[in-house]
Amino acid sequence: MQLTDDERRMRDGGDGDAVAAAMDLLIRYGEALGAEKLVDTRNVAGTMTQPSPAKAKLVQEGGWAKAYAVINLDSDADLDIPRMKVPTCQLQHGFAEDAEGLTGYGKQWIELQGDAESYFSEKGVNILATCTPYQVGNLPVRNEHIAWMESSAVVYANSVIGARTNCEGGASTGAASLTGKIPYWGNHLPENRHATHLLHADVPVETFQDWGMLGYYVGEVVQEARPAVTGMLGQPDLADLKHFGAATATSGGVELYHLPGITPEAPTLEAAFGGGRIPSSIAYGEAERRWVYDTLNGQGESTDVDFVLLGCPHASLDQIALVAGLLDGRKLPANTELWIMTPRALRTMADRNGYTRAITEAGGKVLTDSCPAMSKAAPPGTRVFATDSAKQAHYLPAILGIEAWFGTTQECVEAALSGTWRGELAA
Ligand code: F3S
Repeated sequence: MQLTDDERRMRDGGDGDAVAAAMDLLIRYGEALGAEKLVDTRNVAGTMTQPSPAKAKLVQEGGWAKAYAVINLDSDADLDIPRMKVPTCQLQHGFAEDAEGLTGYGKQWIELQGDAESYFSEKGVNILATCTPYQVGNLPVRNEHIAWMESSAVVYANSVIGARTNCEGGASTGAASLTGKIPYWGNHLPENRHATHLLHADVPVETFQDWGMLGYYVGEVVQEARPAVTGMLGQPDLADLKHFGAATATSGGVELYHLPGITPEAPTLEAAFGGGRIPSSIAYGEAERRWVYDTLNGQGESTDVDFVLLGCPHASLDQIALVAGLLDGRKLPANTELWIMTPRALRTMADRNGYTRAITEAGGKVLTDSCPAMSKAAPPGTRVFATDSAKQAHYLPAILGIEAWFGTTQECVEAALSGTWRGELAA
């Protein structure tokens, strides 16, 4: 790998041992990937504060510096961790105090995470604590090289914002934070960003649910390739594209898609394919839509719903407002829970606008920082849950061994209010 003088200096310890370990990691990682060089980044989204038994053990042995060295720098050495060199944020992590007592999630993890927050915020990590950093202050610009983890955030950054990132890991983002460098490969290279497949929607795709279902189908078909999607597409908003991208990265591993006219580098279909050959299209019609619906609803038997989960990826303010409006003045039955997950900064605005009050007075909860899939915890005794998220419907049954229903936000709220899943039969 070709290194600049400054990169060589960092590798050789010019900025201390921790930075040298970070450079060593990036060089090994980049060489394994065939990267010829590193590229500068000033935007890292990783994870340092998420608690785990392994992390707890490392912290006991040598404090947070030890945990960072081992987990984020792949080093067993005793390192002094300096302040992050470039802007870095913490993505989603475990449940916070607002979820204490609501699940079997241990108080010790909430406390460990609080301790991590103190340590890492001192080091300059912005504790955004969300899978949607782009909703709360971390909004890169087109063509910016960034180093992000979290598949739903990566696909949004590449495809909606036009920034450039691969789906990084805890170690590569840890090393990027201390160096401002990331291997230049994959989605960072312009020639790797053109579409490879074409899908055409023959059914209208207009609602939040429609976009999630289309995304689930697209991911299933293209897996890790780069789809362009055309056809009967309405105008999506942020929540629609959040759902669409997360679904493509759930059934498949899509990191970049092209919606001509929306994806910044694809003003036209021709541009999406970089002026190259456009392949014949794969249809998304009534039968494909039905397949998605039946697949996501193939994990439910009992229609007695205990738990409704909304906000995956973390809800926008508009999504919270919608749920508040649907619940306003109504009451959940005692044996049904409704949670909506959102970034803490957006909950502050929801508090201010009265949305949180409307939801909590109805018996629901507006929770932050995490989600049941991430923290592997739901309300005690949950057997059947309903969600408006294709991603949660896909993952949560396997993670928690519970039944799942997938539908619209309105259907989910109705299920929470009645304790019964009626799906497409709901009002
Ligand atoms: Fe976010 Fe959890 Fe969904 S981290 S993308 S709400 S699975």
